[in-house]
Amino acid sequence: MRIHVVDHPLVAHKLTTLRDQRTDSPTFRRLADELVTLLAYEATRDVRVEPVDIVTPVTPTTGVRLARPRPLVVPILRAGLGMLDGMVRLLPTAEVGFLGMIRDEETLEASTYATRMPVDLSGRQVYVLDPMLATGGTLVRAIQELRSRGARDVTALCLLAAPEGVAAMERELADAPVTVVTAALDDRLNEQGYIVPGLGDAGDRMYGTAD
Ligand code: URA
Repeated sequence: MRIHVVDHPLVAHKLTTLRDQRTDSPTFRRLADELVTLLAYEATRDVRVEPVDIVTPVTPTTGVRLARPRPLVVPILRAGLGMLDGMVRLLPTAEVGFLGMIRDEETLEASTYATRMPVDLSGRQVYVLDPMLATGGTLVRAIQELRSRGARDVTALCLLAAPEGVAAMERELADAPVTVVTAALDDRLNEQGYIVPGLGDAGDRMYGTAD
């Protein structure tokens, strides 16, 4: 597995405001959206393109366009939804699939409650959106699901990652060439499985507790 921590002052600035407990949900959603677009710029560095002939007002020339099959973007519900707009802003022709996953707060085990994406993902570049790489359970399960459908080129975008999650990905997906693009690699997980220093519960920060 390859981890790419995006080192950019704008990323660090937006992330600091996201971490701040005084940041309200509307501001959190807007900043997460902007931050994802910056991460997406790095995450799509190897997106496949093909040559295309065009004519400028001056002369014929050759450029590139996104190759077929189109990339697939998969937000992991619920909090990954808050990353979707920021991602498809850079990849407007991408297709979008959905994976609904929930983490048991006692066991920290992830399970799937909804799936909507193509059965065959062979040859597709897939971008998974999950804001918090904490224990790694959710992302490992999600990537195993993508791989079971034939995906071999998977990039995960996470706002934050914990060393424990990175280690779990390396252990559980040893044979899978996955790339993780994140704004920061934090210190550790606490006893409740939250990333430290982190930003709290990403879904709650975006959408409220919905109790
Ligand atoms: N999920 C979150 O939303 N926050 C964490 O810190 C860990 C997992």
